[in-house]
Amino acid sequence: MDAFLVSGPCRISGELAVSGAKNAALPAVAAALLSERPVSLDRLPAVADIRTMKKLLSGMGVAVSGEAPGTVTLDASRIVSTEAPYDLVRTMRASILVLGPLLARFGEARVSLPGGCAIGVRPVDLHIMAFEAMGARIAVEKGYIHAHVSRVGPGRGRLTGATVRFPMVTVTGTENVLLAATLARGVTTIENAAREPEVVDLAALLVSMGARITGAGTETIVVEGLESLPGMEAPHAVLADRIEAGTYATAAAITGGDVTLRGAREEDLPAFVAALRAAGAEVSTSEAGLRVSRDGPLCPVDVETAPHPGYPTDLQAQWMALMTQASGTSRIVETIFENRFLHAAELVRLGAQVRVDGHTAFVSGPARLEGATVTASDLRASAALVLAALVAEGETLVRRIYHLDRGYAAMEEKLSSLGARVARVPG
Ligand code: EPZ
Repeated sequence: MDAFLVSGPCRISGELAVSGAKNAALPAVAAALLSERPVSLDRLPAVADIRTMKKLLSGMGVAVSGEAPGTVTLDASRIVSTEAPYDLVRTMRASILVLGPLLARFGEARVSLPGGCAIGVRPVDLHIMAFEAMGARIAVEKGYIHAHVSRVGPGRGRLTGATVRFPMVTVTGTENVLLAATLARGVTTIENAAREPEVVDLAALLVSMGARITGAGTETIVVEGLESLPGMEAPHAVLADRIEAGTYATAAAITGGDVTLRGAREEDLPAFVAALRAAGAEVSTSEAGLRVSRDGPLCPVDVETAPHPGYPTDLQAQWMALMTQASGTSRIVETIFENRFLHAAELVRLGAQVRVDGHTAFVSGPARLEGATVTASDLRASAALVLAALVAEGETLVRRIYHLDRGYAAMEEKLSSLGARVARVPG
């Protein structure tokens, strides 16, 4: 298993290009299942989760050509299986995103339950509820979701458009229904829809494939279902990864550096940028992207995670690392997941002063951090440990970096290009 060896403290500066968003790329790859016409995607990030999703589709008979971050073309004209097997699904929850497209195009699907992960149980009951409302018959047996749509007349069983109201905002739940609704019979209205930029990007891809969608980015999305999707004219470039951008912005702020993030957009991260400015960082937008610097003191700023446009839960761990260096006590409330403070204990090993009480963490600073061996537990927690290691005195070994490789392309190269001392070593 790989690890990162980080030597601190350092100050990073320079410019880097933000990769395509993992969380926009995953539903975009799944969207290829909807059409017998090839789907071409640009700017897919070269990360493990994308490789897993491509493997999942290849196993179903999708012909995949091209390599991320170049143009990848997916041809789902000859599907031989509508099953998503456990050994792939258990490594990546987002595999659940094939359920909607398979049901919509083939009237059946057998998808392994994703199982939980470090940050929580992460059920998919709302996905199931939505597809039952659209006419699917779903049984959960032996760890698999067995779904099918009864035939009415000739041809495949076809989902029926419905009003789907989510009791809580679910990003992939919204995306799964959005995908399926494009081929349903009639109109589907998604209420209390997720408003994340990744949902908007997926809608843009589907419209480029010929789907009829309005309201993406608002809490009500309306989809007029079609028999089939005519196909796209040109490749779709997935949007820049706002969470990767926020992670490197936090690296600039924690090290007192100055970094320009090419492709990052402030409007994708309104709450995060507001918190960063309140903490004392300078954030400016130019045509090159987002420039983040800090040369004054860091102030404590409380954050509470919420669905977009609120503060992103995927930048909560990174904020905790930053607040270990702020002059005072800050409060971090995690409202989305039940167990997303696993990074706290590892930050304490580096010398941070963090106390967790249920869904709230209290961070006192500035804490003098000293290099140590720490262990990553999930994707964003591992990023937080690397950020803290950048300002810790001495060497820090961050173990189990495979968590980080799921969602960050070549982090050690990107940080090194900004002047950090980070090396990938056997761990
Ligand atoms: C997406 O996960 C992201 N993943 C997550 O990013 C992100 O943290 C999360 O949205 C919240 O923004 C992808 O887009 C691939 P949810 P998702 O459904 O869709 C509960 C990362 O680090 N819920 O919005 O799985 C759920 O348990 C990852 O890149 C149900 O109860 O999250 C959670 O408490 C981590 N039943 C809340 O809703 C359901 O059927 C929000 O989850 C679905 C969700």
